[in-house]
Amino acid sequence: MKQLSGKRVLLGVCGSIAAYKSAELVRDLRDAGAEVRVVMTEAATEFITPLTLQALSGHPVRTGLVDTAAEAAMGHIELARWPDAVLVAPASADFIARLAQGRADDLLAALCLATRAPVALAPAMNAGMWENAATRANIDKLTRQGVAFFGPVSGALACGEQGPGRMIDNRTIIDKLAALFPSAALQGVAVLVSAGPTREAIDPVRYLSNRSSGKMGFAVAAAAVEAGAQVTLISGPVALPTPERVKRVDVISAAQMYRAVMEHAPAHQIFVAAAAVADFVPQAFAQQKLKKEKFSAEDGFVLRLKQSPDILAELAGREQRPFLVGFAAETESVEQNGCAKLQRKKLDMIAINDVSEGRGFDRDENELLVLWPGGRARLELAGKGRLARELMGLIADRYREHYEKNTT
Ligand SMILES: Cc1cc2nc3c(=O)[nH]c(=O)nc-3n(C[C@H](O)[C@H](O)[C@H](O)COP(=O)(O)O)c2cc1C
Repeated sequence: MKQLSGKRVLLGVCGSIAAYKSAELVRDLRDAGAEVRVVMTEAATEFITPLTLQALSGHPVRTGLVDTAAEAAMGHIELARWPDAVLVAPASADFIARLAQGRADDLLAALCLATRAPVALAPAMNAGMWENAATRANIDKLTRQGVAFFGPVSGALACGEQGPGRMIDNRTIIDKLAALFPSAALQGVAVLVSAGPTREAIDPVRYLSNRSSGKMGFAVAAAAVEAGAQVTLISGPVALPTPERVKRVDVISAAQMYRAVMEHAPAHQIFVAAAAVADFVPQAFAQQKLKKEKFSAEDGFVLRLKQSPDILAELAGREQRPFLVGFAAETESVEQNGCAKLQRKKLDMIAINDVSEGRGFDRDENELLVLWPGGRARLELAGKGRLARELMGLIADRYREHYEKNTT
């Protein structure tokens, strides 16, 4: 299912240089499954023609409020009732001010006032306008009223300045818009997610670790929340903010990860093991820093490693076990190795990550091959947020099947 399948989006366009991006945005929204109707302010029509947006959206574009012919086709209140969300991108400083005042003297402002659908604004403006106290006050007021703000970000601005005021990219707008729609796929289900690397101390200053950034696991936790689940996230050492409405437990080593998962797993119905937990850890921890001089150049330094406990295998062996989703990072024979892990560890599902040639780790984009007993799905290259949502969709479907099978 696409991110915005069946959703009706009313796209408002204001008078900004960034209005040219709205053409692509209409396309991207439709590609994401949305039906799109466009309303432009009078100023916006000076930057991009209604004809372009009409051709791309497949619907007449509305501009004026008092328009006899347009009102006869679809009255402005009817139009305000039509969408599942109103997205204004770009939103100008003046439009934000009008909205903050509750004005209704142009069509777009009147629609935002009349609609009961969520309203989201993607501002674009000069950095001075964005930082101005009047704009800040308008944004504070609208945020308190429940209006969502997507961006802006800092970067090169059309006026030649650098700074905050640049409209965020379409992909992020669509991800944020999709997040406004609650899904009930995992309502009432408790999901445990592990994320990030572990660190295995060699001595007080050195450790063994791996290249996992935690981004995928954090995105999975956020997607589970969006799907209506109660989520606990056990995270190795990463520099990532906790997703909203997620309970976070921080750990450092594989042993701590093991203890935390074992403690929390019984209260969760699904466990998504996205952490890259060390398979091997130092056999001994040196209490004092190992001195270079103690080792000869010839013999070098031999570090003995022992296997760490296998968290997934241990959970899989329990009588009362959560629905288990593993991750496999493979550099060769990707599908074969992932499939073997699915069977060996008796998992319910595995998401296989091809990390050969630097792929997968610490990237914002990824692709996954997902296998489960009797099925498979390939999730094409996409941002980790979108990928996590698609993965959560698959997990929810399989979990429901599994649950229904075991309760009937
Ligand atoms: C070339 C040009 C570019 C502009 N770009 C922006 C902009 O990026 N953001 C903004 O808030 N206003 C911008 N403005 C000012 C708005 O177009 C102006 O405030 C207008 O009244 C906004 O109308 P609207 O909010 O009804 O679309 C620009 C003006 C010009 C002439």
